[in-house]
Amino acid sequence: MPLALAGKAPLQRKPSQKTGQEKRGLSTRTVERAAPRMEGEFHMPTRLTAAGPFSQDERDAVYRAIFTRRDVRSQFLPDPVPPEVLERVLLAAHHAPSVGFMQPWNFIVIRSRDVRHAVKDAFCRANDEAAKLFSDERLRLYSALKLEGILEAPVNICVTCDRQRGGPVVLGRTHNYDTDLYSTVCAVQNLWLAARAEGLGIGWVSIFNDADLRAILNLPEHVVPVAYLCMGKVKELHAAPELEARGWGRRLELASLVFEDSWGAQGCASPAKTEASSPA
Ligand SMILES: Cc1cc2nc3c(=O)[nH]c(=O)nc-3n(C[C@H](O)[C@H](O)[C@H](O)COP(=O)(O)O)c2cc1C
Repeated sequence: MPLALAGKAPLQRKPSQKTGQEKRGLSTRTVERAAPRMEGEFHMPTRLTAAGPFSQDERDAVYRAIFTRRDVRSQFLPDPVPPEVLERVLLAAHHAPSVGFMQPWNFIVIRSRDVRHAVKDAFCRANDEAAKLFSDERLRLYSALKLEGILEAPVNICVTCDRQRGGPVVLGRTHNYDTDLYSTVCAVQNLWLAARAEGLGIGWVSIFNDADLRAILNLPEHVVPVAYLCMGKVKELHAAPELEARGWGRRLELASLVFEDSWGAQGCASPAKTEASSPA
């Protein structure tokens, strides 16, 4: 089934609808401002919009999406994902930051059962290999975990990174070649959070041999499969990461991860003093 975006005028207004300021009747003033011109310098006029803090409700909504987002493997409903909802979450992904505005991503939307079966087989092969890396109690625990929802989720999305987009020299990527991959991961996170706000769950599956995914999805050599995502409507989500609930790992203390000025230096301003308790 084609995406709602195919052959349609693209969404002009982002689905964020109105900002808090607009709702309150305040104008989001756009300022055309020509920067002072130095002789011999070329300046484009800049366009600025108001950027104060969100209203309390808006902030709550943003943090709610962040703190209640979960990786989903088992809670998918079979209901189809409405095309306009899919379009919104893809648009959110497409508005991620990217190095040099490279926008290296593509989104392969997969609904075909045949393709998903092939991907599931690839997962099973890789997962058997992965299990061999654990032993004893860890192996027992690993084997009991469900680590994908490829067939249960009605939609799968492979987010790829085209390493050649933008040509051989990309602003900002000149000294760190992998920044295109980092950009693509930013798109994944945007998609994940927008999906949470839309009542969609997402599960990231990474247990594949790269060559398998490449062959199934016909990826050209210069395109990297960055994320394989299972997506569908959900009614319930785990309150905390499932791997924590099942005793695989736990969230580290933020305070132990924040350093000041150099690696390992924990100063008096570390979040231990100020950290608000996060829900999960
Ligand atoms: C890069 C990446 C790869 C992941 N791969 C898998 C995977 O193959 N299978 C799985 O069940 N979860 C996978 N996850 C989900 C993590 O296990 C999950 O994010 C983590 O346990 C924290 O839980 P939460 O996302 O629900 O907060 C992946 C997450 C990321 C960011």
